Amino acid sequence: MPPAITPSALDLIGNTPLIALDRAHPGPGRILAKAEFMQPGGSVKDRAARAILLAARADGRLVRGAPVVEMTSGNMGAGLAVACAALGHPLVVTLSAGNSPQRARMLEALGAEVVLVPQVDGLPGQVTGADVAAAAEEAGRLARERGGFYVDQFHASEGVGIHRDTTGPEIWAQSGGRVDAWVASVGTGATFLGVAAALRARNPQVVCAAVEPDGCRPLAGEPVTKPRHVLQGTGYGSVPPHWDPGLMDLAVSVTDDEAAHWRRLLAIREGLHVGYSAAANVCAAAALLASGRLPADAVAVTVLCDTGLKY
Ligand SMILES: Cc1ncc(COP(=O)(O)O)c(C=O)c1O
Repeated sequence: MPPAITPSALDLIGNTPLIALDRAHPGPGRILAKAEFMQPGGSVKDRAARAILLAARADGRLVRGAPVVEMTSGNMGAGLAVACAALGHPLVVTLSAGNSPQRARMLEALGAEVVLVPQVDGLPGQVTGADVAAAAEEAGRLARERGGFYVDQFHASEGVGIHRDTTGPEIWAQSGGRVDAWVASVGTGATFLGVAAALRARNPQVVCAAVEPDGCRPLAGEPVTKPRHVLQGTGYGSVPPHWDPGLMDLAVSVTDDEAAHWRRLLAIREGLHVGYSAAANVCAAAALLASGRLPADAVAVTVLCDTGLKY
């Protein structure tokens, strides 16, 4: 039974189900996936959004009623919009024009002021590191102009912390401590790093695999040859500021075609309509389980980052 009354949308964040993907991946091994798309903002970023705002309010960086400003690929913006609505802050987001138009519409529907920033070298649906840098610069400028709190998700430490303190322990408890591998794509790296740290603290043998778009693999130490890809929200072509190479055992690459194939498979076999990074995560988990690196009955845990309704 859920609690009789949930005080606010903030309380809908976290404690997501861990779903067995036995129909999309009958074996070898088993894939379990955190259903982060079920949160009120529709993605894994709700956790970081809430954590960063609550920390800033607690230490006085964000005062009552002050504006919040952030650059987003859409998901952080949605998480912030949910948290800002519940906490009483206006929200201004800068968004590269290359992100799906659905994202801008959702943010506006949630009450955010959306500023679209023209793409530098990407294409619609394919946002590059340079596109993100341009949107971030505009966010910083607007924050100064409006006297707002600049979230700066790539540098905020609360993102990694919240996944270490909530998502990781949830996975450990829900799986009964049976985790052989952790597989996740990387935007800011908060999800991958926080969960990897929590799982490694409980079992140092857990194999941690980062997921990168084919041709855009800085974590694997390769030069970026294809900065454009469909894994929106991840794979920006550079190593994120909080990156800890000691938490990564290997980096698995996924092509756009593979991500599209697994996205369809998850929809028609599991009834789960999710985004491209979620599909890439499952694709990479299946590849890792099939690679022979893990025992035949291994459990790989991954994350369904966002809902497919955003694309
Ligand atoms: C769709 C999607 N997948 C994955 C991620 C990666 O999350 P993180 O920033 O925790 O690395 C993001 C981040 O915005 C995202 O929007």
